Amino acid sequence: MRTARPRHYLMCRPTHFDVVYSINPWMDPKKPVDTQLAITQWEQLRQVYLGLGHTVDLIDPLPGLPDMVFAANGATVIDGRALVARFRDAERVEEAPAYRDWLRDHGFTSLHTAGFVNEGEGDYLFTGDLLLAGTGFRSDPRSHAEAQEYFERPVISLRLVDPRYYHLDTALAVLDERTIAYYPAAFSPGSRAVLQRLFPDAITATEADAAVFALNATSDGCNVVLPHNATGLAEKLRNRGFNPIGVDLSELLKAGGSVKCCTLELRSAD
Ligand code: ARG
Repeated sequence: MRTARPRHYLMCRPTHFDVVYSINPWMDPKKPVDTQLAITQWEQLRQVYLGLGHTVDLIDPLPGLPDMVFAANGATVIDGRALVARFRDAERVEEAPAYRDWLRDHGFTSLHTAGFVNEGEGDYLFTGDLLLAGTGFRSDPRSHAEAQEYFERPVISLRLVDPRYYHLDTALAVLDERTIAYYPAAFSPGSRAVLQRLFPDAITATEADAAVFALNATSDGCNVVLPHNATGLAEKLRNRGFNPIGVDLSELLKAGGSVKCCTLELRSAD
C-alpha cells in the first residue's frame, strides 16, 4: 500500500559525543553520558538504514564538537543544492564548515552558507513540494525567506512555542509527499491552523509520544524509523499503512536528539 524509495543519508559517528554544555532543556551536563553506548545505539540506527537499502555516507567526527552526531543540523540539501547551516550557539558554530567541506568534496558544487541562523534539517523539512520551516528557538525567520529564494520552493514558516521542542524535527515528521505527523501543542495557534489547512489528514501525536521524541523520525515513504518507546505513534502509523521501526537512542536523547537529528538527507537533482 505504501511505497518505499531508497534514500541517501549522511551520518556522523558519535565518537566524541558528550553533554558538556546546555543549549536545550534536555541537556544536563551533570548527568553522566556513556559515549560507548551512544556509539552502539547509533550503529544500530545505521544498520537499520542499510537493511532498508538506503545509502549511508559518513562524515568524520571532530573532537571538541560533541553535538556533531546530529548531522541533520549541518545543512539542507534539495535538488543537489546545499544550504549550509549557520548555528545559533558558539558551541556548534564550527560544525558548519565541516559539513560544508564534506558536501563540497562529495560532489555538491552548488553550495551556499546561510546568512541568517539556520540549523539545517533540524528546522527545515521538505515534503517533496513544500519546505516546512521552523522558527522560535533556533533558525531565524529571515532564514526562511533566504531558503525560499535559494531553493525556489515555497517555504511555510511555522512558529515553535515549547522550548522542549526547539527544532521543527522534534515536533513534526514528514512521512511522504502528502502525509505528516506532528505534535500540535508545540506550535503557535496560527501555525497549528496552517498545518491543519495544509495537511487535514495529518497524524497527530500525543504529549507522551512527543516527550520520547516520537516525531524525530525518518521515513522512506513506507518504513518509519522512530524511537522504540514511541508506541502510541507507532500504532497510528501502522493503522495508516506505514511500517514503524523502533530504535533505542536513549543516550543521544540526553543531548536532545534522536533518529532524525542523526540523519541528513542528501537529495540529488534527478
Ligand atoms: N544538542 C543539540 C542542540 O541542541 C541537539 C540537536 C538535535 N538536532 C535536531 N535535528 N533536532 O543543538
